[in-house]
Amino acid sequence: MPVYMEKHIRTHGNHSSSSRCRMFMIILFTVFLFKSGSPISERNCGTILSKRIVGGAASEISHQPWMAHMRFKVQNRSVNCGASLIQKQWLLSTAHCFRKLRDDSLLIIRLGYTDLIKPNSYSRIAVTNKKYIHIHPNFSPTSAENDISLIQLPREVTMNPYIKTICLGNEFDIPFEKTAVAAGWGSHDYRVTKVSKSLHTVILDVTRRAYCNSYTRSTNFICAYTPGKDTCIGDSGGPLSVVRSGKWTQVGIISHGPRECGLVAKPGVYTNLSKFRSWISNIIRTHS
Ligand SMILES: *[C@@H]1O[C@H](CO)[C@@H](O)[C@H](O)[C@H]1NC(C)=O
Ligand SMILES: *[C@@H]1O[C@H](CO)[C@@H](O)[C@H](O)[C@H]1NC(C)=O
Repeated sequence: MPVYMEKHIRTHGNHSSSSRCRMFMIILFTVFLFKSGSPISERNCGTILSKRIVGGAASEISHQPWMAHMRFKVQNRSVNCGASLIQKQWLLSTAHCFRKLRDDSLLIIRLGYTDLIKPNSYSRIAVTNKKYIHIHPNFSPTSAENDISLIQLPREVTMNPYIKTICLGNEFDIPFEKTAVAAGWGSHDYRVTKVSKSLHTVILDVTRRAYCNSYTRSTNFICAYTPGKDTCIGDSGGPLSVVRSGKWTQVGIISHGPRECGLVAKPGVYTNLSKFRSWISNIIRTHS
């Protein structure tokens, strides 16, 4: 695999003092012709009744009630990643976030935790047993192939305006040459190591396959890139999503890319979710 992949996988341990899982972020707007009827998704997934919560269109994008924040400690450092709530008891994230996870690691998950909400509306969940963390068995740390994981929560989460599930898309939902949205917590600048308390979203162009192919020929990835205007960095594991038939639909997982976000002609790389639909449904069926 190209050096690009190995050098820049967005995991927490990096050259700076930051211990965050870095990421690129994205977003999308399109007219959608396909129905998103996915058996993996919850019936009311991806809908936002946000008028009462937020005002303008911009803040509506930043309202991502399926976003989860995950943290665990490795010795005296903490690893931070994003994840998305896809069912009441299941989160989707990357595999690489858990590379440093140890048997005694305590994973703390926060849902409903954005800058838009009151502090008391979020839910804090502790996962103490590694058996609830399902990492794709074929994940490769060097190539980042199969960079996907599922986390089973100890109980079903109660839905509210700040905590909702996102729909899962299929191959027809991937918006080539259109835009998609990525979301996560993190600084706006890769040189800034301070952890951000607020959720960020960014709109990116989903690149043509040929462009992605200069980094990887694998169809397990989606590439996205926004020339010039950058704003990146959040947490790996967060969703790359589009609005499909009025529902927010996840098509990718923030995986890796160059550390210096927004470099010219260096797209961020996302796990192609539609490749893993059967893996996801198998895990959930087996463990529910
Ligand atoms: C954290 O860990 C590093 C390396 O393991 C060590 O050098 C450092 O002293 C530790 N810091 C604290 C506050 O324990
Ligand atoms: C993502 O996976 C789907 C389903 O296998 C495939 O049709 C599509 O071409 C893949 N996307 C990319 C960018 O390779």
